[in-house]
Amino acid sequence: MSDWSHRHVLDLAAFSLEDYATVLELAQRFRAMPTSGARKLPALQGRLVTTLFFEPSTRTRSSFELAAKRLSADVQSFSPSSSSLSKGESLLDTVRTYVAMGADLLVVRHRCTGVPASLAHDLDASGERVSVLNGGDGLHSHPSQGLLDLFTLARQFAPEAPTPEALRGRRIVIVGDVLHSRVARSNLWALTACGADVVLCGPPTLLPEAFSDFVAAPPPGQSSDPVARRGSVRIERDLDQALAGADAVMTLRLQKERMTQQLLTSLEHYHRHYGLTHARLERCGASVPVLHPGPVNRGVELSGALLDDPRRSLVEEQVTNGIPVRMALLYLLAAS
Ligand code: CP
Repeated sequence: MSDWSHRHVLDLAAFSLEDYATVLELAQRFRAMPTSGARKLPALQGRLVTTLFFEPSTRTRSSFELAAKRLSADVQSFSPSSSSLSKGESLLDTVRTYVAMGADLLVVRHRCTGVPASLAHDLDASGERVSVLNGGDGLHSHPSQGLLDLFTLARQFAPEAPTPEALRGRRIVIVGDVLHSRVARSNLWALTACGADVVLCGPPTLLPEAFSDFVAAPPPGQSSDPVARRGSVRIERDLDQALAGADAVMTLRLQKERMTQQLLTSLEHYHRHYGLTHARLERCGASVPVLHPGPVNRGVELSGALLDDPRRSLVEEQVTNGIPVRMALLYLLAAS
């Protein structure tokens, strides 16, 4: 296992290939743990994990909390609607309050890009020893989702040894609302770091041309890329063309809550051109899996029949894999 140098996990752009290998290796070990009976490890005994979600979540928050409990941490969660934010307390003062209660690891989700990084910066500057894990910020980054997607794909291609190498040369199609997707951005960093060739597909309103250069330059704020050689990214507007030769297809939720203007003609039109169905997948091999980070707009991004088809859909597997991947992240940050 490589040396882990991260105090916080804010963005996968900062991850090296060794970092991905470390997370996948640990996640595979935690995935093999029994899920009933004696299922707790003592690794985080005496540590406090606090989840601060300023934006709704079902999967990320619950699985971070479950992951923390499986490592024997104490868990504390914050709910903005019933907090003193409504009395005018600032976000930073709110977070400092939880740090004063002894939080060791903070999992932060916020609708604004940069909030977890800004909190990490302010806490570091004031000498706090707390780690910040980004649970999703604005359009920017959702690192634990990118890692669980990577783990799910690696297990699909190499069930016994799900390493980054399992992704090398694989063609992964990401279709849908890339513009508003922090999941897509995190997946672009993770998949290309592991040598996958990513094909992005969607209408120009949801997939600007600039995305083809997304990983071409060093990540923002870094003088060089921590990954020596990345896979490729290209845009294909026609979904049937994109699907030809795909090894896996990831579809994204239409994030209507982030759309500030009319970007679609209609949901029916979108589904006809960019929705996944069994018929559409005939372009791919019979074993090509479908992923979706959830929550799903059934019948829009993919048909209900496809979502519920265990031979094709990895959506439940992604949720299951979220727990060992988040255990790995908590374990590594607590150890560091
Ligand atoms: N994929 C994801 O982030 O789901 P939640 O919003 O339910 O956490």
